[in-house]
Parts: sequence; structure tokens; C-alpha cells
Amino acid sequence: MGEHPVVRTSGSERPWGLPPTLARTVQRYFRYRVAVETGTYKGTSTRILREVVGRVYTIEADFALYEDARRTLGNDPGIHVCLGSSPAVLPSILNSLDSCALFWLDAHWFPEVPSVADSQCPLLEELSILARWPFIGDSCVLIDDARMFSGPLEECYRAGDWPTLHDVIAAARFTPSTVSAIIDDVIVVGPGTLTLAFGDYPEMTGAQSPVWKKT
Ligand SMILES: C[S@@+](CC[C@H](N)C(=O)[O-])C[C@H]1O[C@@H](n2cnc3c(N)ncnc32)[C@H](O)[C@@H]1O
Repeated sequence: MGEHPVVRTSGSERPWGLPPTLARTVQRYFRYRVAVETGTYKGTSTRILREVVGRVYTIEADFALYEDARRTLGNDPGIHVCLGSSPAVLPSILNSLDSCALFWLDAHWFPEVPSVADSQCPLLEELSILARWPFIGDSCVLIDDARMFSGPLEECYRAGDWPTLHDVIAAARFTPSTVSAIIDDVIVVGPGTLTLAFGDYPEMTGAQSPVWKKT
């Protein structure tokens, strides 16, 4: 497994949350009927997933943020806001699904939310739960903040809680045909056909062609 080259959309900093073009590019090809997000925060990406996919489960560990999200998003029948730590809540959501899905994994501590006693980043636990799910082979998993797994972290983070990019890619080796690339600070993981889905991405966004690796 070599280094993962980073593909940036033209321009500088990308806006907060799931890049809509990335989600639409995946969805145009795979037509998922459900999305699952870990880490709701203020619901920015929940709304994008609702618009692009149609039905979303979103998981938030912090009670106050969960209550806010339930108030602002919970009346939408396409959005299910769930309270709890993602590794505890994911299994019951997965058990209720009967087909593959689009995942946006973004649950982690950052300075804007209350401190946590548990791990600041439950990503490896999330991936190990997904790896055992029967529909994971045809699902796509988008993991935000690729840079947090590949560079030194600011002092406020507990470095030991954050896996390395190597660990993340190893944990996301779901099937022999799983591929991954880093696009716009998102680790994009899914079936080999993802490479076709992203065929015209450079043309649409001005980004370089994604460099796909077999995980
Ligand atoms: C970066 S924010 C998520 C941003 C949101 N996904 C978006 O794109 O707009 C991270 C969120 O994860 C939540 N969080 C932290 N640890 C969590 C855990 N173990 N399970 C679920 N949510 C968690 C934090 O409270 C925070 O709201």
C-alpha cells in the first residue's frame, strides 16, 4: 500500500461539511436509498445527504447538539436523529437496513464541542462495525478530515485517540475489490466501480484525477 496522493478541488479551503459535488458524484452512479452520518453537529451535512440521497440517519453523542438537531431537523420524515456514541448506535441502525448505503463518517471531538471522556475519534470502531455488515461491499464510505490522520495534530487533540491514515485504510479493506482515494480532504472508500463514478469529476470540479488505490 503506497502513499495516498491528495486530490484537491481547484480553489483553496473547501466549505464546512460534506462537499455536495462529491456526494452527488457517488449518488449519480450508485443511487443509494439511505445515508448514515456519524457526528451530526449542526446538521449541515445531514441536510446535504437528505437532499442528495433522500433518507438519512444521523448520530450525535452530545445531548445538547442532539436536542438542537431534533428540534431543527427531526420533523423531516426523511431525517432520523439518533442520540449516542456512534459505535453503540450504529449496529441497530445497520440491522434495520436491508440494502447498501452511503456513509459519512465524521464523529470526533473538536474544540467547538464539550470534551469527551471516551476516545476523541471512534473511527476504527465504526469501520470495524461496518466491515461486519453484509451490505458493506456495495456501499460507499466517505470519511472526513483526511488530514487529521496523516499529519501532526494541534496540541488540544489527544494524539493517541486518532488512528493513522494507514490504520484507517487497513480497517476499510472491506472486500478484495475495495478501492480508496483522498479527494478534497475526504477519504473515499467503496467498490471498484467508484473509479467509473468519478470519471468526469476532474472536468466537473477542476480537480486533478483521483488516484485510486486498492486498499
Ligand atoms: C466535525 S463535527 C460533525 C460535523 C457534521 N458531520 C457536518 O458535516 O456538518 C463532529 C461531531 O461529532 C460529535 N461526536 C464526537 N464523538 C462522537 C461519537 N463517539 N459519536 C457520535 N458523535 C460524536 C461531536 O459532538 C460533533 O458534533
